[in-house]
Amino acid sequence: MMNPKSQTINLFPAVFVFLLLCAQPSQATKDSSKGQVKLQNHRVGSSVIFPVSGNVYPLGYYYVLLNIGNPPKLFDLDIDTGSDLTWVQCDAPCNGCTKPRDSQYKPNHNTLPCSHLLCSGLDLPQSKPCDDPEDQCDYEIGYSDHASSVGALVSDEFPLRLENGSTMHPHLTFGCGYDQQSPGPHPPPPTAGILGLGRGKVSISSQLSSLGVTKNVIVHCLSHNGKGGFLSIGDELVPSSGVTWTSLSLKPPSKNYKTGPAELLFDEKATGVKGVNFVFDSGSSYTYFNAEAYRAVLDLVRKDLKGKALKDTKEDKSLPVCWKDKKGLKSVHDVKKYFKTISLRFGGSQKNGQVFQIPPESYLIITEKGNVCLGILNGTEIGLENYNIIGDISFQGIMVIYDNEKQRIGWIPSDCDKLPNVDQDNGGDLSEEEAYPRGFGLIGELFTGTDASKNKKDGEL
Ligand SMILES: *[C@@H]1O[C@H](CO)[C@@H](O)[C@H](O)[C@H]1NC(C)=O
Ligand SMILES: *[C@@H]1O[C@H](CO)[C@@H](O)[C@H](O)[C@H]1NC(C)=O
Repeated sequence: MMNPKSQTINLFPAVFVFLLLCAQPSQATKDSSKGQVKLQNHRVGSSVIFPVSGNVYPLGYYYVLLNIGNPPKLFDLDIDTGSDLTWVQCDAPCNGCTKPRDSQYKPNHNTLPCSHLLCSGLDLPQSKPCDDPEDQCDYEIGYSDHASSVGALVSDEFPLRLENGSTMHPHLTFGCGYDQQSPGPHPPPPTAGILGLGRGKVSISSQLSSLGVTKNVIVHCLSHNGKGGFLSIGDELVPSSGVTWTSLSLKPPSKNYKTGPAELLFDEKATGVKGVNFVFDSGSSYTYFNAEAYRAVLDLVRKDLKGKALKDTKEDKSLPVCWKDKKGLKSVHDVKKYFKTISLRFGGSQKNGQVFQIPPESYLIITEKGNVCLGILNGTEIGLENYNIIGDISFQGIMVIYDNEKQRIGWIPSDCDKLPNVDQDNGGDLSEEEAYPRGFGLIGELFTGTDASKNKKDGEL
């Protein structure tokens, strides 16, 4: 970690929590004049939808495929609502890149100057002096697992197919990462980079929204069966009813999707643990509770398992707490009956609270050794302090909506294998061979895999 901050989060397996990139929530999105409200009803802007691949275990991350540039080149990017800056491995040449050179992004004299609005918007703790306004904008981002990326900001076109049928080529700002480090015990996801979907100005959804392409709303739906799911930027997939909404914390302004305090319930009963703030972070594979909440959950789970067929096992190192049974387990459904639903109740009172349910299948994994492990981890142990994170494991089977227009976050149980109907002919089951036959963000036919900038000199950014 190059730029440790006071609340630096230490040692964090395969998790990306936003740390250094500290742009404030955009003021513009809070501006809701009467005219804008009216326009919202007429749905200005469209949405872009991406199929998502990945799983919590064994992969530990979810990614989308995204085209960048002209001619377009396809990149697999880890979807991260816990950070703002999108970056891709950069052929500059690159230090610490995992992708071969021809799968890296080749800059083409398209770096942004340090005087650019989004460069100052990066708000790095050690802000680099911008002596000559023409100097290239260097960025440095560190993640909670101590992985980091250093690079330069560039701007290039992102060919996108919108749900309304239009194709657009907005120019978006992202990082060309030419120096990636990963000193932690866990390797970083082997993707070409990160898709930053946080609350700051430089996040892809903020940029698309300020260009008037989509609303600043992010939706993800991760399926329980490891088949992936979908990600959408824009508000078209947001159901008009049935969503449970809770406010994002505004004071102090947070760069994360951080909620107000919640009460922890176990099997719908109070645990005595209250006042817990959560960050919704798709870049985190697992869910992290602070020591108090973790202790409460562990004690209650263990109490329920007394005299049951499941026994503690220390042989399985997949996660800190695992159990085995005699036969070996294939699916969470084999053991669901031994575990209770954990709930987080936001917004205070019993009557008006907003409940986020975490059923056993959203906090347990079955390992390759056939054991069951607790996918809620001790955040205090890895230095998260009072950060509590809801990660991918607990997002399965629900649609999660990050609404930056109204500063709230919502969820609703969903079949994430299935794309909800936007237009009549857009929905339907996803067969494995032909997922999202139409209406998705990735424009297949534009991907040629060629790179017109090959004749540029090495290291020229
Ligand atoms: C689709 O939405 C985009 C972005 O809001 C807009 O520019 C375009 O005109 C729309 N296309 C159609 C066919 O409505
Ligand atoms: C969680 O981590 C903290 C800090 O390391 C530790 O003191 C505590 O005992 C842990 N809780 C459990 C239940 O292991």
